[in-house]
Parts: sequence; structure tokens; C-alpha cells
Amino acid sequence: MFSRRVPADLAPNRIAAALAAAAPPFDLTASNPTACGIPYPDGLLDALADRAGLAYRPDPRGLASARRAAAAEYRRWGVEVDPEHVVLTASTSEAYAFLFKLLAEPGAAVLVPSPSYPLFEHLARLEGVDAIPYHLNAELGWRPDLDALAAAPAAVRAVVVVHPNNPTGSFVHPGDAAELERLAAERGWAVIADEVFLDYPLAGGDGSGWSFAAAEEALTFALGGLSKSVGLPQLKLGWIVAGGPRPLVEAALARLEFIADTFLSVGTPVQLALPALLHDGAPVRAAILERCRENLAELQRAAAAVPEVSARLPGGGWSAALRVPAVVGEEELTLELLERDGVAVHPGYFFDFPGAGTLVLSLLPEPATFSEGVRRLLARLRTHLQR
Ligand SMILES: Cc1ncc(COP(=O)(O)O)c(C=O)c1O
Repeated sequence: MFSRRVPADLAPNRIAAALAAAAPPFDLTASNPTACGIPYPDGLLDALADRAGLAYRPDPRGLASARRAAAAEYRRWGVEVDPEHVVLTASTSEAYAFLFKLLAEPGAAVLVPSPSYPLFEHLARLEGVDAIPYHLNAELGWRPDLDALAAAPAAVRAVVVVHPNNPTGSFVHPGDAAELERLAAERGWAVIADEVFLDYPLAGGDGSGWSFAAAEEALTFALGGLSKSVGLPQLKLGWIVAGGPRPLVEAALARLEFIADTFLSVGTPVQLALPALLHDGAPVRAAILERCRENLAELQRAAAAVPEVSARLPGGGWSAALRVPAVVGEEELTLELLERDGVAVHPGYFFDFPGAGTLVLSLLPEPATFSEGVRRLLARLRTHLQR
């Protein structure tokens, strides 16, 4: 009776079920910025009460004032974005859904990075599209294997890059980006660049500080949104910036407008408030960045005391991956931490980290919670190492 776009088995996996039952005091999977003690300025949401929001005059691409505000964000990366090339969506997830509808027939495919954010598989499947993983090489700082990408099947319509990637924290190397753009242009693929974490450089490096919105060679869609850029996921506003060869950009925008017009999903008050939210939300972004840097420094300090453990230094984002000795399976260790130590972490296999022995920690929790969670995690590992 039901379509195969929705998984037949909707039961939570063992770890999700244990996490829901345990309500652990040291939840290092917490990735909701509104629940981690990040300070939000008073009056931040006042602009939502603008009386202009009482009138409904929808523009399928989004109100011009909101598109101008989203476009202006790219000045931080030295890119002058034309507001006419911006389309608003209710979230980045919705942006993916719109782009998969735009680019891929049912049964076609998109290339997605691995390890990465596990929602891609569902987002693609809900559009009737296959998500084909391409591997990021840990030994090379999570750079993609461009030769393997070049050998992708003919059904591929787009390549997704996450810049910086969640949860490896790796920015796309500018040289790889140029090569990807060249390959995409040659193959007739679009590039979908998820830049929701671009505002959060942790270790920096030469890969940070630039945006795919400047792309010229291939049809490219850079994605961003309020959920990460000012820590307001509940407001439901994201954006797509289209770039690349002008005729392709114009053809894509006309079709994206058709898709957006079919749903008109972004509320008027949040669009009217966007300029103020982006301006007044800057301290939230700064507080989140400071929180992530502080927790990362603590993780590195604590991990340095256990030679068998190493904290990979993420280039950017809100999480960190910890390499742990494979003396115990990731799932067993995760469940043990949850049930015996009150500590929640994600096992690396959730994100398709290769091999065994990766744990993923959110850098958002309150520092006291984070450091005690890390202390307990390392103590638990020590007991395994001593066996
Ligand atoms: C890489 C990445 N893209 C997109 C999203 C979702 O963003 P939104 O709330 O705008 O749908 C997330 C959420 O964690 C993410 O990690």
C-alpha cells in the first residue's frame, strides 16, 4: 500500500532507542543550539512581529528584501551574489528536496560524500533518487578520490559537497573544488554545495574562508540557512544561491521558481525579519563558535593524556571525531557509555566512518557537561585498555 520512498522499518535503532530511554546527563550528541545554553540577545525575535506580516503577498523565490539580505551574507566570503539568484526555502533539507526535483528524474542518482551527514540517503530516497557515496580519504585530510568520481555511472545528475563537512569538519580543498567544477561541467552534473557550517572555522587551514557561491564553471547551488548561521533552526528559513554559466543559472532559476511556487513554504514573518535576524544574530554565531572552540580545546587536552586516543582536528563545524582503539566495538562502547556512564556519543558508523573505532561528539554542549562527558568517556576507554 505504501511507497518504498519511506523505509518499511521505522523502528528506532538500538542506540536511538537506548538514548531516548536513558535521557543521559552528559549528552554529547546534542546538536540543537537552542538547548545548549547559548545566549540569545533579548529582542532577537522582535522583527517577527512586524505588522507587514499580516499581509500575504507571496513571491515564490522569496521576498526581495529577504533575498537581498541572504545575498549580502556572501560578502563575508568576498562574493557579490545577485539577489535574483537566491531562492528561499524552509530549510536546507527542503533545498535538497527542491534541487533533487529540479535535477534528477526518479531512478537517477546523486553523488554524496562519505563519511557525512546521514540524512542524504533519506532526502534522496524521498525524491525517488539514489544517493551514491563517494569516499573521502581520511589519510589525505578527507579529500575526495577524484578518479573514482570521474568513473561515476551515467545516471548521476549532481554531486553534493559539504563545505565544511559534517562530521569530519573538513573544508573542500580549493584545488579539489576546481577539479570538481571542471568534472561537473564536463559531465553535465550540477554541484550542490552545502555550506551550512561555513561560518564555523575551528582549525581554519587553506580550505576555509571561501564559498562555492563564486563558482563559474558548472551549474552550482550553494546552500545556507538560519538554522546554523544564527542558531535558529526553529524559524525554518534556508536559501539556495545559484551560480555558474548564466544561461544554465537562468534556466535553473525559472524551474526552481516553479517548484517553490507549488509549495510557497516559507512564512512571511520570517522573511520580513530576515535582515534583522541576520544582523542581530551575529553574537549568537560568535557565541556558538566560541563554544565549539572551547570544547574542542578541552577534548584535545583531555585526549592527549590517553596515547591510544586521538582527536582529529576538524577544520570547521559543530562536531569532532575521536579515534579510539578498536578494543571494543563502536556500538557496544556507545551503549556501555550510555547505560553505565550517562554519556551519549554517536558511533562513527552512523556517518559511515571507515573501519571501527570512531566516536563523534557534538561540540555544542555546555562546557561543564562536555568536559565531564569526555572525562567519563576516556575513563571507560582506559578500563577497556587495561583488560
Ligand atoms: C550538513 C548539514 N546540512 C543541512 C542540515 C540541516 O539544516 P536545516 O535545518 O537547514 O535543514 C544539517 C543539520 O544538521 C547538516 O548537518
